This record gives sequence, structure tokens and C-alpha cells, in this order.
Amino acid sequence: MTAQPGQLDATRVEEMMGRLFGNLGGAVTSALSWLGDRLGLYRAMQGAGPMTSEELAARTHLSERWVREWLHGQTAAGFLDYDGTSRFTLSDEAAAVLADEDSPTFGAGGLHHLPNLMGEVLLRLPEAFRTGLGLTYDDMGEEAAVGVERLLAPWFRHALVPVALPALDGVVDKLESGALVADMGCGAGIAMLKMAEAFPKSEFRGYDISRFALERAAENLKESGAKNATFCDASVDPMPEDGRFDLITTFDCIHDMAHPSDVIRVIRRAIKPDGTWFIADIHCGANLQENLDSGNPMLPMLYGFSVLCCMSSSLSTPEGEGLGTVGFGEAKARQMTAEAGFSRFQAHDFDNPLNAYYEVRV
Ligand SMILES: C[S@@+](CC[C@H](N)C(=O)[O-])C[C@H]1O[C@@H](n2cnc3c(N)ncnc32)[C@H](O)[C@@H]1O
Repeated sequence: MTAQPGQLDATRVEEMMGRLFGNLGGAVTSALSWLGDRLGLYRAMQGAGPMTSEELAARTHLSERWVREWLHGQTAAGFLDYDGTSRFTLSDEAAAVLADEDSPTFGAGGLHHLPNLMGEVLLRLPEAFRTGLGLTYDDMGEEAAVGVERLLAPWFRHALVPVALPALDGVVDKLESGALVADMGCGAGIAMLKMAEAFPKSEFRGYDISRFALERAAENLKESGAKNATFCDASVDPMPEDGRFDLITTFDCIHDMAHPSDVIRVIRRAIKPDGTWFIADIHCGANLQENLDSGNPMLPMLYGFSVLCCMSSSLSTPEGEGLGTVGFGEAKARQMTAEAGFSRFQAHDFDNPLNAYYEVRV
């Protein structure tokens, strides 16, 4: 039976109300931020100095009253600076996160897919909770692949080739002289194309099962002009399991796969005896308590994305293993790679709060 109001600890009730409405505030603020990204409001304010709502509306060809309310909301949320009368500024620091897609700290890509996730995807989840069956990436709509691309691309553009690859034992030497590389779960292909552009003597193959991701990858390939890269639909043209690859990469995808143990076994058979498997996956502990003890401020967001997207994908076929966003931390990665026959495992820290990195070898 529910406790009567007089029996409750009023301070704790107040804290709970604060928590609920604070999170609701975060959700609707993110909706306004999505509008800022989609309508080019952040980009219009980047480097422009203090602006009135009339100036911003004129610059973006939008209705002033709507722009003014957006400015007020974004100021209240701490994204904009306000001069106390009528002018609003997007600081250079805010622009580096919200406006400048070329910045290593660009984060607004994480908002891209929010309307789909919080709209049609969310509305299908009560059924998923009943049946146990989740949605594939393609079930989540065309924008899912673009959202993932925009979220993860900054690290690939700025750190993968100059920072991460040189830290892997002997990998850059092989790539410079000509290696065969596979990127499993390649998504829109940005990571692979960055490597293909940097190492023209090597050959790169991306594998994914998402039609929308492969379509984006084809567009990105055309734009890049790389001649040493191809993308394959792994469900019809699977990775050959004959020990031919010098380097295999998996970026933030093992935890999304319905049958990661099978894919890891494929990777084990596909890699050369002296090859390297480079894994990026979510920085997390082995269980909920370890995650709570870590104090990771992103934890609620990670569990949220897990239910809305990653765990859903990993349960999208019957008997899916259901790892989810925080299901492939270091302990699990060590266990699953060892079970597949890999014997060497080295963790790397490339200063990315979201991801951990593992260099795995036979
Ligand atoms: C979070 S995205 C990461 C994409 C890309 N690696 C990146 O970093 O941008 C996860 C990807 O894994 C793909 N995926 C899921 N299961 C797969 C499987 N069994 N084989 C290949 N790709 C798979 C999804 O389609 C999706 O594109």
C-alpha cells in the first residue's frame, strides 16, 4: 500500500521531484538543442558576437518570436550568454561543442536522431518490453545511421590516425607498406575512410548489415574519393574467414550486435596469426555496482541509449545476447576475446570519456 503523505520524508520527496523535473528539463532542453542544430541557429551564432533575436531571426530566415523563445530557453539552460538587456552570445567554447562540426569536441551530433528515438522508436518499446524483441538499426529509421555518424565522427577525424593507430604495436608500419584491413560494423564508414585516405597502399573493407548505414557509407566514399576502400553488406557478402586480414577494427558496435560471440569467432578466423584487432567500446564496469561506483556522470544517458537503441539492437533477433551500451566493458571484452582464442589483450586510454580501447592479438 502507498504510504500516506504525512508518513513520507518530505525532503526526500522534494529531492525526487527535483530529480524528475530536472531530467524532464534536460529532455526538453535537448529538444530545443536539436532545433538549434537542425535550423542552423548555433551555426548562425558561431563567431557572431552578441546578437538580438531580430538579428538571429533575420540571419536564419526564421520567425522572430520563435527564435526569441528558443534564445531564452537556451540561456536558461546555460548554453548561451546574455547581456541582461537584449543580446545573446554563443561563446567560442559553446560553439566548439554545439556549432563547429569540424571541432574535435563537437557533440551536437548526439542530438541528431533524438526525435526518432524519443518518437516512433519509443512508442514501439512497450511492445519490445512485452515480447523481448528489439529493433534493428534500420528499424530505427534512416536518420539513425546519420546520428551515429555525426556523434562518433569527431574522434575518427581527429584522433584515430594521428593518436590511436601509432599506439598499436607495429600497425602503422604495416599500413604504410600495404595491409589488408576490415572494419566490422563500419556504419557510415568515416573511421575506415580516414584510415584509407591516410594509408593509400593498404586496402580497406567495411562490413555492416544496415542498409541505411551502407548507403551513407557509399555517399561518404564518393565524397572521399578513396580508391582503396569498399563496403560490403555482411549479410550477403560476409567477412572471409581465411586468416587474411592484418588489421580488423570494431568501433562501438560489438555491444549492438545480436550475436557478438559469433562475430568475434568470425574475426578470430578472419585475422592473420600476427594480425591486430583494434576495439573501441563504451567505457564501463563489469556490472551496475561498478558503474555506479565509477561516478560516471554519463551513466543515465548510457543506460537510456541502451534501452532506446543499443540493447534494442542487440535483442533484435530471437536469442540475441543483449549486451547493450554498457555490456562490453573491459572484463567482458577480455572474457569474450579469450573464449574465441585470442591470447593477448592490452587496454589503451586515448582520453575519450565515452570509449575504452583494446588491442587484441592471437
Ligand atoms: C553504433 S553503430 C557504429 C558504427 C561505426 N562503427 C561507427 O563507429 O560509426 C553500430 C553498427 O553496428 C552494426 N551492426 C550491428 N550488428 C552487426 C553485425 N552482426 N554485423 C555487422 N554490423 C553490425 C549496425 O548496423 C551499426 O551500423
